[in-house]
Amino acid sequence: MNSKEIRQKYLGFFEKRGHAVLPSTSLVPENDPSVLFNTAGMQPLVPYLLGEKHPLGTRLCSIQKCVRTIDLESVGDNTHATFFEMMGNWSLGDYFKKESINWSFELLTSKEEGFGIDPKRLYVTCFEGDKNAPKDEESAAIWKEIFDKHGVKGNRIFFLPEKNNWWSAGDNGPCGADTEIFYDITGKHTEGLTHEEYWTASEETQELVEIWNNVFMEFEKKDREIIGKLANKNVDTGAGFERFCLALNGKDNFYDTDIFEEIFAKIDAQHAELNPSPAQLQNPTALSEKEALRAKRIIADHVRTSVMLISDGVIPSNTDQGYILRRLLRRAVRFADNLGLKKGSLFWIADAVVNTYADIYENVARQRETIKITIDNEEQKFRNTLSHGLKEFDRIIKKLSSAEGAENKNSNEHLISGKDAFVLFSTYGFPVEMTIEMAGEIGFKVDKEAFEEEMKKHQDLSRSGAGQKFKGGMGDTSDISIKYHTATHLLHQALREVLGAHVSQKGSNITAERLRFDFAHTAKMTDEEKQQVEDIVNKRIADALPVNVVELPIEEAEKTGALHFFGEKYGDKVTLYYIGNTIEEAFSKEFCGGPHVKNASELGHFKIQKEEAVSAGVRRIKAVLE
Ligand code: ALA
Repeated sequence: MNSKEIRQKYLGFFEKRGHAVLPSTSLVPENDPSVLFNTAGMQPLVPYLLGEKHPLGTRLCSIQKCVRTIDLESVGDNTHATFFEMMGNWSLGDYFKKESINWSFELLTSKEEGFGIDPKRLYVTCFEGDKNAPKDEESAAIWKEIFDKHGVKGNRIFFLPEKNNWWSAGDNGPCGADTEIFYDITGKHTEGLTHEEYWTASEETQELVEIWNNVFMEFEKKDREIIGKLANKNVDTGAGFERFCLALNGKDNFYDTDIFEEIFAKIDAQHAELNPSPAQLQNPTALSEKEALRAKRIIADHVRTSVMLISDGVIPSNTDQGYILRRLLRRAVRFADNLGLKKGSLFWIADAVVNTYADIYENVARQRETIKITIDNEEQKFRNTLSHGLKEFDRIIKKLSSAEGAENKNSNEHLISGKDAFVLFSTYGFPVEMTIEMAGEIGFKVDKEAFEEEMKKHQDLSRSGAGQKFKGGMGDTSDISIKYHTATHLLHQALREVLGAHVSQKGSNITAERLRFDFAHTAKMTDEEKQQVEDIVNKRIADALPVNVVELPIEEAEKTGALHFFGEKYGDKVTLYYIGNTIEEAFSKEFCGGPHVKNASELGHFKIQKEEAVSAGVRRIKAVLE
């Protein structure tokens, strides 16, 4: 049975039993800033589980898109993914345990109505009871009756504590005891299991895979404590769609199901001996078969999740949902390099993901190009700094492993400092989780706490940026950012020469990947003007003009004709940077807090990437150094 049929069968089964079919909501919850993503099918339904009336009635079902990133390390094994779909059915004060359990069993095992699974492959768990609620004998009795009726022998109902059989989406909200259904993927445990065997098979060997969770939501939690009963006795079930696909196709992992067929084929097609990435050149050792499979799965998973996130409006950034997306894509780039894929492969893999979901999610089909371009841009952006970042990473490791480090046996020679991790993040775009992972692979750790402190310091610095702006000082003083800062001065002057002296700075923003410069000017720049500006900047770089700094009393500084913000209050003395041999004949002069490179020749090649309007009379240029 292919994945499409499974979708239809699931929803059809519950529709036939009086459930309204709901479409999946966006991965980004609309009215709940407390979570980044929907992590369960019930999340969009919380108000109704808490008692509000649902316009479509008391029986609902859906296949909901979900993202969970807490298991990131497990991605690559048989059954973990960051994106998954959850098939769910709900009773809002309507039916309860008996119907819920019986329908789950019927859908799983009935040849006519459902999937026709052999009941001997099913194992279940129930809540063992605690101070909040008694042992769930009721669910266990329902299961016993069902198993007896179908001649299913052996011990297959296990009682477990709150940790396993009590469910809530977080520290607050509706919750309750649950009964979980496990599927024996081996088909060999036909006669039942002891409690211990069950535990090994489900927790250690993954022979038993949890495929459905039926939660009996009767309680409400606040700050982790049960505060009372809900207005209704609800049912909230969740069945992992990918796991169903696995179970129903006799696979032991869901990457071998039809969902991943086209995605994997595309990954296989992206190998390129002719186009090695920097990482491969540095580390040409081939991966073992097992490592290669893991890398492939990670790439497939991360690109799939990224496609779904972008289709729901997330864009890569350094905060919130955007940061998760960035992390996933950058991790995918790293594993793509390890695996030996061509540069730019993510674009094509994303295309295969879009094909896989185009029939199911209209917004994926509609945004095919945006999705692919967003992913490709992020790959390229990361590649701009990746090889330098890897060198920096190696330098840090060498420094820590050097004789000097080794002398200090008690010191943390295997601990990457918060400062170093921060440089890798801010200058080279390495998400800290990636640094931690790379460090872990060679037996190093990262001082995460110190990294967080560096982050905070940096944020405080950028917050005080209002005052900084006029001094032209920068929060980030990494090598690349410093280069962009000097390039900004050259650009400012070049624009004045090409467009006129009305050009004045309206804003500036520098990252490790590019500079952004806003300036007063009304018309769109022509290609010719852009070319002239580039040529002027590149000429100053080729001339290797020195960058100088002087401190002068304000009146004297003003007399030099140096650019500064009109109307801004400066101190009695200001620092002035000029690019040229003398202050009189300098190409560029600005009041500025620095820092800057020592010589324009350090900048490389300057290129304008984009010129656009930001508001009436203000244009924006994005430019890179290559
Ligand atoms: N909400 C329950 C879960 O996600 C069904 O497991």
